[in-house]
Amino acid sequence: MTSRSNPSPPALAPLAAHAAPGLDDVIAAETVLSHVDGAAGRLIVRGHDLEALASRSFESVLALLWRDLAPEPMEEAEIRSALGRARTHTFALLPPLLPATDGLAPVEALRLLLSALADAEGGPHHVLAVAAVPVFAAAIHRRRAGKDPVAPDMDLGQAADFLRMLHGSPAAESHVRALDTYLVTVADHGLNASTFTARVIASTKAGLFSSVIGALCALKGPLHGGAPGPVLDMLDAIGEESRIRPWLAEALARGERLMGFGHRIYRVRDPRADVLKGAVAGLRDAGGRIRFAEAVEAEALALLAERKPLRPLETNVEFYTALVLEAVGFARDGFTNVFAAGRMAGWTAHVLEQEKAGRLIRPQSRYVGPMPAPRTGA
Ligand code: ACO
Repeated sequence: MTSRSNPSPPALAPLAAHAAPGLDDVIAAETVLSHVDGAAGRLIVRGHDLEALASRSFESVLALLWRDLAPEPMEEAEIRSALGRARTHTFALLPPLLPATDGLAPVEALRLLLSALADAEGGPHHVLAVAAVPVFAAAIHRRRAGKDPVAPDMDLGQAADFLRMLHGSPAAESHVRALDTYLVTVADHGLNASTFTARVIASTKAGLFSSVIGALCALKGPLHGGAPGPVLDMLDAIGEESRIRPWLAEALARGERLMGFGHRIYRVRDPRADVLKGAVAGLRDAGGRIRFAEAVEAEALALLAERKPLRPLETNVEFYTALVLEAVGFARDGFTNVFAAGRMAGWTAHVLEQEKAGRLIRPQSRYVGPMPAPRTGA
């Protein structure tokens, strides 16, 4: 054979000598959406510090995140109306679907209901995805309590209607404000595990619903979005002030992790923790819980500094998330669904960004298994 008919394959770039387990410090995407500065304890969302966004509505943050990425530009008021219509559309899908969620954990029920939304029908679906989560999460919560779902009110904002659909009656303004702050606080957060998952799936052109369902599957783990329920379990297990230090010390001695502490990126306090602490402080009925939680937090930080001196471990977003969501009436086993209601903002924006500019995400692995026996003969 001539070299013309059997050309050498083009050279591939050399692989790194070592894999990076956990992909720590690997830059895997460029984004205009958000930046987590773990050394400074700063979260920037499209040019705004989180603290400056915290008083804005969830809809205004959606407008910010979707700007120049969604096919049609929409401002806050248009997004509010579009979400109201999309909640009503979603509610109409519920009757045949809801019974299939019986016996499932709330986050698995949400995954099942989201799977009924088809990538093939129209698109790009970002509004419908954001609208669907509170409708589904509230209906799942009520069904587990033996109650019928409550139809959305198109005229309300997303946070107010979420609580109304959950409780079956209008929520106090202070509770709406606290939930709105929560949804804004968790709306986007760099290339966290669930957002990365969404971008990987979006990069294959599988569609927005497939991408965000994959993201939800990543979110539900206790090392990511599954921690706030266990934070309350921990507070309940400790029970009283005199037991705080011994309880935490024993948990650490058993090699357990204290829920609501530590973060892959933040080496100082997670800025979201203070924003949520502020949100819960405004709720009249949460006072006793907050004082106890603050005592647990102070003791946990002191013990973590003693026992893990080489690793700065600070309070993360999940600690005060637990208090906010409990105070406004969510069941603790449904907290991850409320997280998904907020993070859907970021997931959809990242999917739109990935679909617009991205390339198929396909990293390599380093093979460390056995090699086959050498080939013999020709
Ligand atoms: N309690 C006790 N020790 C901890 C904790 C904790 N919460 N977090 C980390 N450590 C310790 C580890 O045991 C390890 O100690 P070692 O070196 O002596 O073995 C050291 O700190 C480093 O731990 P890593 O696993 O390398 O830290 P990583 O960056 O992977 O962990 C994570 C981040 C998963 C959030 C971790 O801190 C954790 O498990 N926290 C508790 C669960 C939690 O709060 N999850 C919510 C995270 S926030 C979010 O995703 C929205």
